[in-house]
Amino acid sequence: MRLKEKILNGYIPAHLAIIMDGNGRWAKKRHLPRTFGHKKGSENLKDIAIACNDLGIKALSVYAFSTENWNRPKDEIEFLMALPSEFEETFKGQFEKHDIRVIFSGRRDRFNAKVIDLINRVEEKTQDRQGLILNICFDYGGQYELTRATQLIAKKVKNGTLSPDAIDTSVIENHLYTKELPPLDLLIRTSGEQRISNFLLWQIAYSEFIFTKTYWPAFNEKKLYKAIKQFQKRTRRFGGLKEE
Ligand code: FPP
Repeated sequence: MRLKEKILNGYIPAHLAIIMDGNGRWAKKRHLPRTFGHKKGSENLKDIAIACNDLGIKALSVYAFSTENWNRPKDEIEFLMALPSEFEETFKGQFEKHDIRVIFSGRRDRFNAKVIDLINRVEEKTQDRQGLILNICFDYGGQYELTRATQLIAKKVKNGTLSPDAIDTSVIENHLYTKELPPLDLLIRTSGEQRISNFLLWQIAYSEFIFTKTYWPAFNEKKLYKAIKQFQKRTRRFGGLKEE
C-alpha cells in the first residue's frame, strides 16, 4: 500500500502547524541569494497546503513572519512583505479549485497599506470556503497573542460584560487568533533547529512535536506523509493514563 493510503487509514491531525525554517540555508547551499530560498519556500507552501487539504487536514498554521523578524536586513523584510501578494497572484486559481480558505494571524499595526488591503481582501474572498483553513501567521508572536487576549478580556471586565470569576481556559481560547480552529495536534519544525521560537505558545499544550533536518523548500509531500506516519505511532495521553 502506498504511504498516503496507509496514513489515511489512521488518525489524520485536525490541525497541523509548521515552522518553515531553513529557507536561507537552503539557498546558501546552492550559492543563491536568501530571497530565492523564500521564493522556493513560498512555492512549497502552496504544494504542502494542497497536500494537507487532500488528506482532510482541517487547519494548517504556518509561521511566515515573526514579531522578531523585523530585525532582519531591510531588503529581506521588503521581500518577505511582498510574499503574500505574490502568493495570491500566483496560486489563487489553485486555491479556489481546492476550496482553501486563507486567514492571517498576527499584528496588523506594523504593515503598510498594501499588505493590509491584501490581507483583508484574501480573508473576505475566501471566507466561505469549506476546505483546508490555511492560517498564515504573519507578524505573529505567541507572547503577543496572549498579551492581546489579556487586553481584550480586561476591557470586557472593565465594561462589566465579563466577570473575573468567569475567566477560564475556554474564555482565553476564544480571544486567540486560532479561536475557530481545532486543537493543535502536531507541530513540525524544519531545518534541524529544536526550538519553539514564540510560535503558538498556548496551542502547543498537548501537541506532538516533530523536528526534521530537511530545509523548508525541500520538505515535500512524501516527507509530510512520513511525519504524519510518525505522529500516528505516538501514544497521546493528554495528562491521563494510557488506555489498556
Ligand atoms: C525561515 O527561514 C523562514 C522565514 C522567516 C520566512 C518563511 C516564509 C515563507 C516560507 C513563505 C511564506 C509565504 C507567504 C504566503 C507569506 P530562514 O530565513 O530563517 O532560514 P535560515 O534559518 O536558513 O536562515
